[in-house]
Amino acid sequence: MVGQRKDGTTFPMELAVGEVHSDHGRFFTGFVRDLTDHQESEARLKQLQAEVVHISRLSAMGEMASALAHELNQPLSAIANYLNGARRVMERETGRDPRVVEALEKASQQALRAGDIIRRLRDFLVRGEGERSVESLAKLVHEACGLALVGAKEGGVDVRYEIDPHLDRVVVDRIQIQQVLVNLVRNALEAMHDQPRRTLTVSTYVGDDMAEVSVADTGTGLDALAAERLFQPFVTTKPQGMGVGLSISRTIIEAHGGRIWTEPNPGSGAIFRFSVRLAPDEESVS
Ligand SMILES: Nc1ncnc2c1ncn2[C@@H]1O[C@H](COP(=O)(O)OP(=O)(O)OP(=O)(O)O)[C@@H](O)[C@H]1O
Ligand SMILES: [Mg+2]
Repeated sequence: MVGQRKDGTTFPMELAVGEVHSDHGRFFTGFVRDLTDHQESEARLKQLQAEVVHISRLSAMGEMASALAHELNQPLSAIANYLNGARRVMERETGRDPRVVEALEKASQQALRAGDIIRRLRDFLVRGEGERSVESLAKLVHEACGLALVGAKEGGVDVRYEIDPHLDRVVVDRIQIQQVLVNLVRNALEAMHDQPRRTLTVSTYVGDDMAEVSVADTGTGLDALAAERLFQPFVTTKPQGMGVGLSISRTIIEAHGGRIWTEPNPGSGAIFRFSVRLAPDEESVS
């Protein structure tokens, strides 16, 4: 239902009506619940979800383009080298056709240009997106985890937050950092999927001059050898996985001047940690 305030403005509401009979007649009680906040937070969640999906597509494209650039670079430079070689041989020939020499040179230039286009596409997709502003780390972490954890509590996961109250303001692109968190939390949930004990701990704390965030799980864990490879694109152990989550995360964190790494969780499971810059006023406090 829609309610109307004294000043004429309207608001979404829920109305419950009760009826009482007494010696003095019939009485009705009405309970009005203002749903404005509720609807606002729902709309906010939807908007956040859309933003995260959008940026994850963009990042996946960037990651794909960068892997492509890497793969295509070798054949493209081989083509350019062969063409240059052929041109040099041609130049030494007597009675050569200058049009063929020129065509070979142009072909080699185009091969180099193709490599360049792919590299620039990658730079644009990966770095062109960043918009830095001062954000509340606690709010950013809660929002992203709320998004990634939809349905997790029902799935028997014990979620704990250890948010440092003295640390809050960081300089980041909010959407990008939330994208990193969403992937870390989803990875953690996936790693704990068939474990008897499922505890997820998300913490923030001050590290060496930087704010640090950690996502710890009690999942399958990883060995040291695997740990370094995980951050490369297309490394996955999941049938449905693309294996781009961690490599995108590393690109994002490094573009922020931070670091991302993993270590074993004492007991069982893995901890992923990353750092981001503190806002200047926080630096003087800490
Ligand atoms: N918390 C974790 N515990 C154990 N293994 C993990 C954890 N996080 C990541 N991994 C391993 O690292 C691999 C790479 O993770 P990454 O997020 O890059 O890709 P993915 O989750 O497989 O696919 P997607 O592209 O959908 O994220 C995973 O397939 C998994 O094997
Ligand atoms: Mg992942």
